[in-house]
Amino acid sequence: MTATPETIVSRPIARPLDGWLRVPGDKSVSHRSLMFSAIASGTSRIRGLLEGEDCLATANAMRALGVAVTREAEGDWRVVGRGLRGLEAPAAELDLGNSGTGMRLLCGLMAAQSFSSTLIGDASLSTRPMRRVINPLSAMGARIDSVDGHAPLVIHPAESLEGVNFEMPIASAQLKSALLIAGLYAASPTTLHEPAPSRDHTERMLSAMGAEVTRDGSTVRIAPCQRLEAVDIRVPADLSSAAFFLVAASLVPGSELTLEAVGINPTRRGVLDILEAMGADISLANPQTVGGEPVADLTVRGVTLKGARIPESLVPLAIDEFPVLFVAAAAADGVSEFSGLAELRHKESDRIGVMAAGLRALGVRVEEGDDWVRIEGGQLAGGTVDSHGDHRIAMAFAVGASVAAAPVTIGNAREIATSFPNFLELAGTAGLSVGPAA
Ligand code: S3P
Repeated sequence: MTATPETIVSRPIARPLDGWLRVPGDKSVSHRSLMFSAIASGTSRIRGLLEGEDCLATANAMRALGVAVTREAEGDWRVVGRGLRGLEAPAAELDLGNSGTGMRLLCGLMAAQSFSSTLIGDASLSTRPMRRVINPLSAMGARIDSVDGHAPLVIHPAESLEGVNFEMPIASAQLKSALLIAGLYAASPTTLHEPAPSRDHTERMLSAMGAEVTRDGSTVRIAPCQRLEAVDIRVPADLSSAAFFLVAASLVPGSELTLEAVGINPTRRGVLDILEAMGADISLANPQTVGGEPVADLTVRGVTLKGARIPESLVPLAIDEFPVLFVAAAAADGVSEFSGLAELRHKESDRIGVMAAGLRALGVRVEEGDDWVRIEGGQLAGGTVDSHGDHRIAMAFAVGASVAAAPVTIGNAREIATSFPNFLELAGTAGLSVGPAA
């Protein structure tokens, strides 16, 4: 696989997108499969693991904690679990790179260990809010130092952790997962109340490994755990990566593209519902359950998308897909309105501000508030945009350019490698025209 260039150019395309594609493994499931296998008893085989930089950082962190993690073939990994209490003190800082999931989940895991550790990340990760995990973990007995609520996080050994009964202030699977992981090690049960559903991969995988995780409406509870059993894991293709092609094929007339074995977990499906509300034609075939996660082949056909008002209830279920959904709205007929988006300002970049600036640079009329966006659809112009090192923003503009009036140059695009290392190759296979800037 070739390295992703710093600046890319995406050009309008004349032909429809067609054929079959398999996008890489789900990022959320990949992180969890590495971390949970590391603390299970026995050896796990993971197939379809995403080999993007974020998950490779998690794999390296597990190695630094004394876990044998080996890549047997592309996407095919083996982890020799050390049991819940078998991790070793790392010799150096654990570098999670660009990954919020890596840092927040690992914070929950490290808080329960009998040794100290330090979690660091890149410039973007070092600006992202960590108090959301530090405060409730501290209430459980964890001892975590931060730089004003940000990484580096220095995690000291805790005497013991107690379970908590915690009202989550935000719908965040990273927060929920950090607390569930710490809850495995607590002396009493941990009960979490979610304000809205967030992705439940942690609950599914820990249950499959033998943890006692129960759900009652918006409440999830985990019991103290003595042992997790290693399991073989098949990682579904990532719906968040498939989303770029769902939008591209929807926008280009005459397209018919099938994306194979994509995860369609109900807590992730918001992008399908939002695109459907905009008039997209997406059909599901071959539904199966793979490793406890529902998957299906998705076939998408070109249509004229129309603007829509998107209900807030769908936001946590599509939280990573808004950059490309904003592009869909910008190229649709009519006005789209999105609300309840406050969390987007705390992602790999401020996804409201950076997307609004990029869309305006391409001639789109965009209004924004703290937590809302209004986009007038029409013809995108060519131009230059800055993705501010945000992988999903770079890929979203690569999709938008395919129906723009002229090429779009996209700066700070290298981070595409964090979640979708073969994006340029697959985009070419599907019929997009995107490559390094000359
Ligand atoms: C993730 C949860 C979401 C999402 C992120 C992956 C996870 O973050 O944006 O890309 O794997 O748990 P939040 O929990 O901050 O919403």
